Amino acid sequence: MTATQESGTRTGDKLLGKVAFVTGGTRGIGAAISRSLASQGADVAAGYSGNQQAAEKFAQDFTATFPDRDVTVHRGDIGSAEDCRRCVAEVVEQHGRLDVLVNNAGITVDRTVAKMVDADWSRVIDVNLSGAFYLSQAALKHMLERGSGRIVMISSVIGETGGIGQVNYASAKSGLFGLTKTLAREAAMQLQRSGNTNGIGITVNAVTPGYTATEMLDAVPEKVLDGLRAKIPLGRLGQPEEVARVVHFLAADASSYITGQVWGVNGGLDM
Ligand SMILES: NC(=O)c1ccc[n+]([C@@H]2O[C@H](COP(=O)([O-])OP(=O)(O)OC[C@H]3O[C@@H](n4cnc5c(N)ncnc54)[C@H](OP(=O)(O)O)[C@@H]3O)[C@@H](O)[C@H]2O)c1
Repeated sequence: MTATQESGTRTGDKLLGKVAFVTGGTRGIGAAISRSLASQGADVAAGYSGNQQAAEKFAQDFTATFPDRDVTVHRGDIGSAEDCRRCVAEVVEQHGRLDVLVNNAGITVDRTVAKMVDADWSRVIDVNLSGAFYLSQAALKHMLERGSGRIVMISSVIGETGGIGQVNYASAKSGLFGLTKTLAREAAMQLQRSGNTNGIGITVNAVTPGYTATEMLDAVPEKVLDGLRAKIPLGRLGQPEEVARVVHFLAADASSYITGQVWGVNGGLDM
């Protein structure tokens, strides 16, 4: 079974009874993650910022594919701390719990260091890094009360390698490594202190996709994409579903001994 087929139908029950909130969960990699988590039985809350049409289409397709799973969509700008807190509260209120948070939403505003203006820098840091912090902070409080949870950050291979014209994006994406490892340590410590341990625990991990075929790459000229493909040992772009399957693996209860790690899904690009 291919990764695409795996996320298009119900294939297992590793996440049955769980609720997952996927930011940017209505398009691209996030939509594949939403479907992948549902393929293992999770109910899904998908976040988006403004593309209502895509959000409605996502919810319709989701219900057609997974008629026995609940899906809700939540509009909010994760560049705003208030929206982050409101969205987490909304998900818990509407679904009664939150087991899995996937900090997937992200943007690019590419310019060289010389040309980057203050607003380009701060917007990308606000959305790609601070948003993940505020969402995780709110989700972790709830997870600690319940004694279990999973947080997965969608970083990028660019956070590991840097990228010309992407100083804001690379800084935010590598910032997610520090956020992941610190949250992983604090969650483990607080859970042990509370004595609220059930074997599932709270884990925090990051996934670093390489170049993946979504609308985010529409901004990249075809000639540049050809150059990028030539550098990837596997010789092609990744598919969103190939990133998503790592997320549902990390989200499972049985992945309870994996925390504070960075998982590359990049066709060998960083070797
Ligand atoms: N594609 C790649 O090659 C690649 C490689 C490495 C890492 N990544 C990372 O993977 C993640 C997903 O990328 P993608 O290619 O799937 O992106 P995408 O196709 O552009 O989709 C982005 C999603 O994030 C949402 N979003 C954007 N800004 C937001 C904001 N301020 N508040 C809330 N939601 C917001 C969008 O909502 P709307 O639909 O409302 O706009 C959309 O659902 C990103 O973090 C990206 O950095 C992507």
